[in-house]
Amino acid sequence: MKVAFLGATKGIGRALARRMAERGDTLFLLGRDAEDLDRSARDLEVRAGRGMIGAAHCDLEEPATFAAALASAEATLGGLDAVVVTAGLFGTQDRLEADAALLARLLQVNFAHTVLFCEEARSRLLARSGGTLCVFSSVAGERGRKPVVLYGAAKAGLSRYLEGLDHRYHAKGLRVVCVKPGFVRTGMTAGVPEPPFAGDPDDVARLVLRAIDRGTPVVYAPGMWRWIMLVIRLLPRAVMRRVGF
Ligand SMILES: NC(=O)c1ccc[n+]([C@@H]2O[C@H](COP(=O)([O-])OP(=O)(O)OC[C@H]3O[C@@H](n4cnc5c(N)ncnc54)[C@H](OP(=O)(O)O)[C@@H]3O)[C@@H](O)[C@H]2O)c1
Repeated sequence: MKVAFLGATKGIGRALARRMAERGDTLFLLGRDAEDLDRSARDLEVRAGRGMIGAAHCDLEEPATFAAALASAEATLGGLDAVVVTAGLFGTQDRLEADAALLARLLQVNFAHTVLFCEEARSRLLARSGGTLCVFSSVAGERGRKPVVLYGAAKAGLSRYLEGLDHRYHAKGLRVVCVKPGFVRTGMTAGVPEPPFAGDPDDVARLVLRAIDRGTPVVYAPGMWRWIMLVIRLLPRAVMRRVGF
């Protein structure tokens, strides 16, 4: 599979990219830090047992970089079978409420600009009669919750956009995979108190790779979060106002 990958330098993205390289997928890395991209490409080449993994500058804060980055991936790989987006930002509710500039960045990166990136990816995949668009949203977007009102709102918008894309383009060959991780131990969650059922990046990567292969439209990871969110979605508003999660 020929894969353009935005966010493979850290966390869950790194674990997923490693699994893809180890099983023989051909990757092209997109990201904003040239040194990180280079280091990640060398690491993936060793795991793949073959070189040269290419990379291009792509910053979710700069939509002007999207088209050129994806064009570069497509030209280098000789086509695209999948585009993966694990890149994203996190901020605690307290921090985002206190810092309007950070909040504006997070809303843009996690929602508006991710949608713009996906639109560019979607049109390129459909121009070649389809492929897979795998994007990381979050369980935080499933229900309005006190600790993640703002981050969750951006992810809710993203999840709904991906659901609509699936409905609109499935028959034309687009396979949309919306990943909804629960709490995963990465740099993003360092210092955040760990809830029960926390997972590790490689557990998530394994589930996501299977979902990509099967074209599963929504994947909760770790899997237990499907059932946790089922319960949380059913809780009445009066209960949600009282509880702290
Ligand atoms: N960890 C969790 O518990 C959890 C839970 C639910 C959902 N998620 C979602 O899962 C995804 C992966 O999370 P993670 O924990 O693996 O995060 P992470 O370890 O912080 O990695 C985030 C990745 O996003 C990239 N990135 C951030 N801002 C970017 C920008 N403006 N342009 C391009 N790349 C950018 C980072 O690259 P740089 O090195 O350049 O910063 C890094 O490669 C995210 O979408 C996150 O919201 C995570």
